[in-house]
Amino acid sequence: MTKTEIRNHPKFYNVFISGPQEKRKLYTKNLNVGYRVYGEKLIEYRGEEYREWDPFRSKLAALILENPASNFLSNDLICLYLGASSGTTISHLSDILRSSIIYGVEFAERSIRQLIQNTSGRKNIIPILGDARYPESYAKSIFTKANIIYQDVAQPNQAEIAIHNCNYYLQDDGILILAIKSQSIDSIQKSERIYAKEKKILEKADYHIIESVNIHKYASNHIVLIVKKNTI
Ligand SMILES: C[S@@+](CC[C@H](N)C(=O)[O-])C[C@H]1O[C@@H](n2cnc3c(N)ncnc32)[C@H](O)[C@@H]1O
Repeated sequence: MTKTEIRNHPKFYNVFISGPQEKRKLYTKNLNVGYRVYGEKLIEYRGEEYREWDPFRSKLAALILENPASNFLSNDLICLYLGASSGTTISHLSDILRSSIIYGVEFAERSIRQLIQNTSGRKNIIPILGDARYPESYAKSIFTKANIIYQDVAQPNQAEIAIHNCNYYLQDDGILILAIKSQSIDSIQKSERIYAKEKKILEKADYHIIESVNIHKYASNHIVLIVKKNTI
């Protein structure tokens, strides 16, 4: 059996890769050694344990595989994660932002219970039972403004939810990474029209789209937007 050789991603902080470009696999270094969150493969390499990061289960992994120009990961980022579910993507962010804080908001009680179970060995995740449509309702659980807000909530008004949270919690020079699922907004209209509408809503609210990345290869009817606040 050939051994998987793992190396640093050429751009993204604390993300690791194996294989050639066309067959690239992503990994993060397991912060909670010996534990899986969603049945992912664990790999030992040079005395460290890595977790394979599945782009079909995580839109953030899909985004990274699509190689966006923006380099949005670095040490010590404080992250607000909206739609944390049972912990798939947030656990990889926890591996990446090892000594930082990630606030994970989720409104489904069953999912938050699983999130707590799946991430109890990770000290950098703060699970919050809350509804992302009402950012003020979880203000008492969030102690600092975020450098990065990641949103994946599959709701009809995805852009508005993101704007409310950014206005409340995002630092002026922070970044929003917004997964947009067109089917959750309108299942009849063409995806491209829906994406254009959501982008307009963001722009009207004084945000600008740095990049729009199509991840249809991994998640049908999804794009991911990388967004910043307009500053004067
Ligand atoms: C597509 S799943 C997220 C998957 C997750 N981001 C991952 O990659 O591991 C969407 C999640 O958003 C949650 N959600 C939807 N609307 C929400 C809201 N208004 N507030 C908080 N969570 C919400 C759902 O309960 C669901 O768990």
